[in-house]
This record gives sequence, C-alpha cells and structure tokens, in this order.
Amino acid sequence: MLRTHTCGELRISHVNQTVTLTGWVQRLRDKGSILWIDLRDRYGITQLVFEEGKTDSALILLAKTLGREFVIEAEGLVAERLSKNDKLPTGDVELRVTKLNILNSAKVPPFTIEDESDGGDELRMKYRYLDLRRTPVRENLLLRHKMARQTRAYLDSLNFVEVETPVLIKSTPEGARDFVVPSRIHPGEFYALPQSPQTFKQLLMVSGFDRYYQIVRCFRDEDLRADRQPEFTQIDCEMAFVTQEDILNTFEGLVRHLFKAVKGIELSSVSRMTYADAMKFYGSDKPDTRFEMKFVELKNNTPSSPLEGRVREVFSSRVLDLTSGKNFNVFDSAELVVGICAKGCAEYTRKQLDELTDFVKRPQVGAKGLVYVQYRSDGTFKSSVDKFYTADELKKWAEAFQAQPGDLMLIMAGDATATRKQLNELRLLMGEKLGLRDKNKFAALWVLDFPLLEWNEETKRYHAMHHPFTSPKQEDIPLLETEPGKVRANAYDMVLNGSEIGGGSIRIHDRATQQLMFRKLGFTDEEAKKQFGFLMEAFEYGAPPHGGIAFGFDRLCALFGGSDSIRDFIAFPKNNAGRDTMIDTPSTISEEQLKELGLIIKP
Ligand code: AMO
Repeated sequence: MLRTHTCGELRISHVNQTVTLTGWVQRLRDKGSILWIDLRDRYGITQLVFEEGKTDSALILLAKTLGREFVIEAEGLVAERLSKNDKLPTGDVELRVTKLNILNSAKVPPFTIEDESDGGDELRMKYRYLDLRRTPVRENLLLRHKMARQTRAYLDSLNFVEVETPVLIKSTPEGARDFVVPSRIHPGEFYALPQSPQTFKQLLMVSGFDRYYQIVRCFRDEDLRADRQPEFTQIDCEMAFVTQEDILNTFEGLVRHLFKAVKGIELSSVSRMTYADAMKFYGSDKPDTRFEMKFVELKNNTPSSPLEGRVREVFSSRVLDLTSGKNFNVFDSAELVVGICAKGCAEYTRKQLDELTDFVKRPQVGAKGLVYVQYRSDGTFKSSVDKFYTADELKKWAEAFQAQPGDLMLIMAGDATATRKQLNELRLLMGEKLGLRDKNKFAALWVLDFPLLEWNEETKRYHAMHHPFTSPKQEDIPLLETEPGKVRANAYDMVLNGSEIGGGSIRIHDRATQQLMFRKLGFTDEEAKKQFGFLMEAFEYGAPPHGGIAFGFDRLCALFGGSDSIRDFIAFPKNNAGRDTMIDTPSTISEEQLKELGLIIKP
C-alpha cells in the first residue's frame, strides 16, 4: 500500500519511527513560520507539521499550495506533540513531514466536511459521496455493516441458509404499489420488482430448505416518510415445522443478540401485547412502551366496526360512562371519551395548554379539540369543562386516571377509532416533552393476534391486514363466513421504541384454505389462479407447515444508531420525493429505448 499506517493509528509508542500516511486534507493552519495540516482517512485524523528551519523549505512551499480535500501522501518522523489534543486518539503525536506527494487536487467542496457540516440536506444528498466522508455518516454505515455481520452470525449458528431470490418477478401483494419493469423480449409484458420475497421463501419451505434467510432489497411504490424508502432492506426469514412460539423465540433471540453484540446491551425480555390491547391502551399497533401513560376511558359507547366489537368484548367488564348527561354536548355525543394522565404537569400555563390544543388540531392529527383537567397540588381542580362538571365529578375522573395532585389529565372525545389515533399522537408528544422517550433506552414488544382482514371503505371490500398468505387462528375460522372482520390471524409484529421493526405470520399451507382466503379478499378463482396459481399448486406437492418474519433492516439500524431517519443509514438513499439527486433519477429514456420496449409516453 502507499501508506505504512492509517490516520487513526499513531500513538506515543510510534515516536521516532518513520511512517507514511495517505488521506485527505481536512484543515490547513498556516501561522507563517509553522504550518499544520489535519490529515483524514476512514480511521481518524493525524496532525502533520511543517516548520521553518526544521522542514525543507521547498516542502513548505508545496504544502502551502494544498487546499481542502486534496489527496496526499506524506512521509515523516513521528514526534511527541508539545500541546496534546486529548479529543483525538492520535492527539499525543504529530508527523514531522520529510516527503510530500500530491496524489490528487480537489475543487473546494460545496459544504464543509466536518462532523457538523454547513451543508443543507439537499446539497449533501447531491454530493452524497462527499457527505459519506463525514465521520457521523461513515459511522452509521459501519454500524450497518456490523449489524449485517452479526445477523448472519446468529442465523448461521441456527442452521439458517442464505438463499437469493429473483428481483424480476411477478407482483406480490404486500399492500403497496409495485415498481414495474417493461420486458423488451415480450412487448406489452412487465416484471414487477419484489415488495418482499414472500412467495419465494414459502416455496423454499416446500423445497425442504427448512430455515431460510436473506438480507434482501425490497421495493415499494408508496408515500415516503422518515422511516420509509422506495427501496429498503429486509432481514427476511422463514422456518418450516414451527409454531408461532418457536418463531417469536428465535427472533427475539436475534434482536437480543444484536443488542448484545453491537451495543453491549442486555435487552430485557421482549414483552407481549395483543393488538386489541395495543389499540385500547395506546391507540396504536406500535406502542412506544418506554413509558406508560396508558389510555383511560371515561366513556365507551357502541363501537361501530367489527374490530372495535372485539376490543369491547375483551373489556366489556370495564365499560363505564363518567361523562354523559351533564349538558356537555361534545362528550354526550361521543362514542368514546378517553384520556391520558401527564404526571406532574398540573401547573402547565394557559399558553402551554393552548399549544397542546393547537397540536391536536393540526391537520396531521385532526382532532376538534382537547379537554384538560388540572389536579392542583392543593387538591382542587381547574378544567376547561368546569361549567359542566362539579369538583366531585372531576374527582371521579381523577380516580379513574389514578391521578395524584400535581397531575394533568388530557381528554379527547369522538369516534372511537379516530379519537384513539389522535390521542396516540398526543401521548407521544407528552412522552417527548417529559423526556420519557430517551433514545438510549430500549423497549421491545411483540404485538400479537392481529386481525386477519381489514375493511377498506374506498374499495368496499376486505384487504389482508398482513398479506394473503397469513393463516387465520384455527378457532376463528368459522367467523370467516359470518363476521370476517373479527377473525384473528396468526400474525405478529415486533415493535421497538414505537417503531415497527418487523412483522410476520404463520402461513396457510394448504390449497383449500388459500383459495378460501383469496375468495374472501374478492379475487375470482381465475384471478387467484392467474396471479398465485404457482403457489397453490406447490401446496399440493407436500407443503410443510411454515411461518416467518421480516425485519426492516434500515429501521433497525436507525434505532440502534439513535436516529429517526433511515436515510442516515443508507449509503445512497432517495430524497422525500423518491429522487436520487446525485445521479438525477428517475429520468427519461431515449426514443429508441421506448421504441424497443414498445412504449409510448402520453403527453
Ligand atoms: P412487512 O410488510 O411488515 O412484512 O415488512 C417487514 C418490515 O419491513 C419494514 N418496512 C420498510 N422499511 C423501510 N421502508 C419501507 N418502505 C418499508 N416497508 C416495510 C418494516 C416492516 O416491519 N413479507 C412480509 C414478512 C413476512 O410475512 O414474513 C413483509 O414484507 O420494518
């Protein structure tokens, strides 16, 4: 190699050795008689020094021509520094340069290549290869590399086999739109890019592979958010001859192994919650369980959807109404009155309370308003509904909330499903405000017993909540005919700090049930055969019982790295509009290509 050491390597023990370093000029400080350069590579920074009287003057002149991000090779003697820098691992030493070779010059970079850069998001994305030179970004990718290695190590140790599956496939319904690729050889026909390798991993079980995994790219054409990219990576897994319990244990093991091996953290065991409980107590199928602040219902009246029906059945013993009949129309007309108790927030000012109201009224949250009850330290109440409720009545609410003097109750009302969703947003905000969502604290959770089907108002039919290959719970199968919305699935999600990091299910493995499922989803037998005939046929050649899971690898990396955005953990991500501004794509293709593909673009 052109170098003998890296820029992160030299220590006091190297003093008096002659070494050669290579790297990029991070910073140049010219004090006239002495000139320092911070030389950077992947491993760290080392200070180079050129000093009048001690360094050859031609070398000093050459050094003065260097600019930021020039690529150089410097040979010299390692010396102990007079003023040490305890912030750098190499801060005890410097290199007194005796030979300097410019390997390449560089234009002035469009933003500073420092831990804190002056470049905005868009600019850094356009020059992502420069952004990747920055230590925090590079460290994210190194973390990702470590996570991938440890994932493979864990799964290999359990006899999982990594198998690649095709990228040019036929549509698999995972709930998003497909990206499609036109075929030149078969004009008018298209491949779809996999939303996941779902059907292939099931076929591998029919093939007898027994334990499969793949760290695999998936493609989904959906609206983008901080935790969604059009192409993202899954740790995709499947097992044969297993129960749901086996899968939960195996993959809880994977997550615990990653925490231990990558972060040195002993993760406390993964707790479990049914979907019905998650919706009832947190208003979300991915509750952040780093903190409690559970929902408390003051009134729960005639839930309308079949799923609410199940939630109600489970909790019917606790249904009560502490609000109606006091002329407060908002609560009287509401299906659900539900709130949270924010500990120690009774002294919130009018302004702070107004801010909370404004927050829930934002279009993204969509609530009409917010009721507050301050349970003051002297035991009195102050609320936005004092006109309607007596202190005694408010006291009853406080008891339901298990509130203490000093606490603040925040209450919302309306249609059950929407109100729960809105209160979930408020709960997360209050958790944030109270410092309960510490990025260095981790709470993992299995959410179990998801509904099999979900009613879609737009299409006026049921959709699979996970995907159409998920099996219904045996005891709920009769409900498929009578109340399909009440059927629970053998499906599970893993949630970490309020983020869905993985999901899977025990699959259907016989043709008749699979066919029934397609019918329930509104496919005609012909349509089902056309799209999934291969799978149903495979089920007739000895398909073992099987199930699996896929983790969102980018999300897992982002959570481990303490970031909200998965983009920070992808080398070359797309922006919020699904564009790669660096290579400038999506882009048009030539007339010739269009012609070859038999495509005409409508104006
Ligand atoms: P699912 O659709 O739940 O399951 O996806 C699994 C996990 O992938 C992550 N994920 C995403 N990450 C980033 N960007 C996206 N656009 C995106 N979409 C999903 C989530 C999610 O939990 N085939 C099934 C798995 C199975 O049944 O075994 C599947 O893909 O973290």
